[in-house]
Amino acid sequence: MAETLAGAASDAAEAMPEFPMPRAAGCPFAPPPAVEELRERNPIGKVRIWDGSTPWMITGHALQRALLTDPRVSANDKSPGSFPFVTAYRQEIAKYTPELIVNTDAPEHTRLRRMVNGPFLVKRIEAMRAPIQKIVDGLIDDMLAGPNPADLLTALALPVPSLVISELLGVPYADHEFFQENSSLALDRAAAPEDSRAASNALSSYLDDLLGKKLTDPGDDVLSEMAGRVEAGEMSRSEAVHMGVAMLIAGHETTATMISLGTLVLLENPEQLALVRDSEDPKVVAGAVEELLRYLSIVQVGLRRVATEDIEIGGQVIRAGDGLIVDLHAANWDPEAFPGADQVDVTRPARKHNAFGYGPHQCLGQSLARLELQVVYGTLYRRVPTLRLAARVEDLDFDHDGTTYGVASLPVTW
Ligand code: HEM
Repeated sequence: MAETLAGAASDAAEAMPEFPMPRAAGCPFAPPPAVEELRERNPIGKVRIWDGSTPWMITGHALQRALLTDPRVSANDKSPGSFPFVTAYRQEIAKYTPELIVNTDAPEHTRLRRMVNGPFLVKRIEAMRAPIQKIVDGLIDDMLAGPNPADLLTALALPVPSLVISELLGVPYADHEFFQENSSLALDRAAAPEDSRAASNALSSYLDDLLGKKLTDPGDDVLSEMAGRVEAGEMSRSEAVHMGVAMLIAGHETTATMISLGTLVLLENPEQLALVRDSEDPKVVAGAVEELLRYLSIVQVGLRRVATEDIEIGGQVIRAGDGLIVDLHAANWDPEAFPGADQVDVTRPARKHNAFGYGPHQCLGQSLARLELQVVYGTLYRRVPTLRLAARVEDLDFDHDGTTYGVASLPVTW
């Protein structure tokens, strides 16, 4: 009997799916078939990851929302138990990473978030529409004046978030080039690690200097607002610098990817592109932004959490110390939440997607990202109505390894 039980247990262990799962060939936008199957069979089930540990993987939309708002679920990677790190490298650097907005729980997280919430409120972000429009128009002018075909990634997708975040943080125009070069290098996975580290250090010390200047000569920007809080003793200077770097990193590649992949999806679905291009109603473009956020769900590595107490949910018991992987892409293709989820439909009400996460850590920059995407999608296809791909989709270099799923370049012509 004991042998049978042991045999059954080892069969179960063998059957446990490995995460991440491979994507089907020729389906660059769909979640891997094994993920879809897991969601249908068991929207909360265990998987095995690189270090042999077996965290829970949550693929159902409603279950994700319940767990991401549960105070027994921690984003602190130093919490006791098996925090499911993405890689061995991430596990190593976590030992030396200070307390940041991304890896703390309430009340510390609430304090840090309160320090920066103000400038990201919808009303204040909306005031950036005109400056963002100017940035996007200028970049499209340059692209049209330059060589044809062009790489949409370098011509538009990467510079937009970089220039916008410089504006938001209050980086003087003269330093934009330095800022953009170093932020690209700091985030470039193809760059040598020592070059990325040097670029990231250069940015930190630049932001530290700039914060010093804002202390004596404040402007109407996020860094000046944080400088005020440093002066009032509400946050430390290094917390303010870390926060600036976090905004830069969290908002750069994500927004750039939504510009390039969003454009790719629309070019591949011309009837959807026509709806976006030809409508006079800004709500149509805003709706397309939500649908593309849902459909692409570019943060595909899974949000990582650990349980601090036992949690009974979805017919399972998550034990204190168990790791959790919240697969946003799977939830955004959950047919219970989005009927016909495998089809891109810019007219569907898609705003309840989980692409920005959910709960206390839900994306701080979501209003800004939405605005940037609305301006880009609302401008590019109107100004360049003949825009088309200058490569075959099957020849594009899709990146499966990073936090964000994207393409290495997007050749376009017009
Ligand atoms: C389309 C673009 C974007 C996507 C898809 C995206 C996605 C996400 C997701 C999924 C999270 C949740 C992480 C978690 O719960 O562990 C997050 C958090 C965050 N995002 Fe974004 N993001 C985008 C743009 C931006 C921008 C433009 C900024 C800032 C300027 C930004 C700043 C942040 C910050 C600071 C956090 C951490 C919030 C916290 O832990 O409390 N993001 N983002």
